[in-house]
Amino acid sequence: MTGNHVKIFDTTLRDGEQSPGCSMNLEEKLRVAAQLEAMGVDVIEAGFAIASEGDFEAVREVARQCEKATIASLSRAAPGDIDRAWEAVKVARFPRIHTFIATSPLHMRVKLRMEPTEVLEAIARTVGHARNLCPDIEWSAEDATRSEPDFLVRAVEAAIKAGATTINLPDTVGYATPETYGAMFRDVINRVPNADKAIFSTHCHNDLGLAVANSLAGVMGGARQVECTINGIGERAGNAALEEIVMALRTRHDVMPYDTGIVTTEITRASRLISAITGFQVQPNKAVVGANAFAHESGIHQDGVLKDKQTYEIMTPESVGLTANNLVMGKHSGRAAFREKLEQLGYKLSDNQFQDAFKRFKDLADAKKHVYDEDIIALVDDETLRAHDRIQVEEIEVYAGSKGQRAIVSLIIDGAEKTATSKGNGPVDALFATIRQLVPHDDATLQLYQVHAVTQGTDAQAEVTVRLEENGRTVQGTGADADTLVASARAYVNALNKLLTKRTKQAVDPAEGVRASA
Ligand code: KIV
Ligand code: ZN
Repeated sequence: MTGNHVKIFDTTLRDGEQSPGCSMNLEEKLRVAAQLEAMGVDVIEAGFAIASEGDFEAVREVARQCEKATIASLSRAAPGDIDRAWEAVKVARFPRIHTFIATSPLHMRVKLRMEPTEVLEAIARTVGHARNLCPDIEWSAEDATRSEPDFLVRAVEAAIKAGATTINLPDTVGYATPETYGAMFRDVINRVPNADKAIFSTHCHNDLGLAVANSLAGVMGGARQVECTINGIGERAGNAALEEIVMALRTRHDVMPYDTGIVTTEITRASRLISAITGFQVQPNKAVVGANAFAHESGIHQDGVLKDKQTYEIMTPESVGLTANNLVMGKHSGRAAFREKLEQLGYKLSDNQFQDAFKRFKDLADAKKHVYDEDIIALVDDETLRAHDRIQVEEIEVYAGSKGQRAIVSLIIDGAEKTATSKGNGPVDALFATIRQLVPHDDATLQLYQVHAVTQGTDAQAEVTVRLEENGRTVQGTGADADTLVASARAYVNALNKLLTKRTKQAVDPAEGVRASA
């Protein structure tokens, strides 16, 4: 155990990105990694390098870009996986290989088809192989919470002996309770003779809604690294939410005297970025980052808060980087003011990006009476995150009314402009039918079309999310604009771009175990 500092290991780009609809392109991953570094995350799990060329490239580019955080790539217990992970992270200032194998009887028998002794041999061999490449090795006992305690102790001892410097005991299926999870850490740390040579880590899934509580119990049981994701995105019900863990440790320091290096004022920005990229809006009552997390509706609460904020507020909105809706500028605001606002909001744009964003800001200020910080964030994210999409929306015209609906759409596809027109049952249907005509994708079905108002009022910008599914692959696209139909076209086209990227991935699922001898 190393004092009371708890390392924050963010796996938004790996376990988070792995969940349906959450895939990100390279540019988006680099944006997220930059935000994670700005927030002071200790370890960024940038991906699963062997999964595809795209995953490899993303891990390598994140490794190149980050200066402060340790960059990890996941790998199964196979030399080929480990070599690929090392190739991707070795350019990092602080590289880490994260290798894992299942240790529960069910996973060993059904998935790995290996005897426990074979698993122990595989741990020694593969962790040793990884340690010969990289000084920082994390080893995970997949499905640790359903593993036989005696076997888990032997497996952890073997991993540390072979050179693992971090030991992760995941609750892979979200089965643990705080009591059992904390007790597992105490037991393993007490019984493993070389436990003092490694840092222990939690990794909790939220199937029973206990991921954060379990992670905190793990810390109290001796873990000094917590694996988590922004907004709790991740497989099935998701992973433990970073913002909840960090704010719980900070707010209840009296009963959990542990520190993290997280700059909490960056939390809201990180949360919004993940929502903008994935299209997964957090529920309004979500702890820490939900729209209502600091809203006081009832008269009694409002009265109390007006007298003394502490009556109903255990943490301040400012501490998580939430500032009051700032009235920004109107149509007379100039470039200097817009540049200053972008800086305040944490954006660093290139000259071209700035010019494009400024033009869109002016258009928005013409269309909308009040422009708030939220508007600027939605607009700039929309502009900068779509800049390298192969397909771009050039122009749309939509005719609606009781006589029928028709759309005319111009797209730029790989640099060439194409235009088509189509009718539909409603303006959105006409719009999407026209896009389908321009970019045929007959196997894909629309699973979700959702409109969210960025601010209040009928002139609010619309943030649209579109989810498409094709042969079991799900992607989500987002788009923002003062015109709901323009936002819809952008969201649909953004989802299509993601589908194109996904088609080229030869997806290796990390949950598929590999026999270590493979
Ligand atoms: O949930 C899990 O067990 C994992 C491991 C691969 C670390 O994500
Ligand atoms: Zn996981």
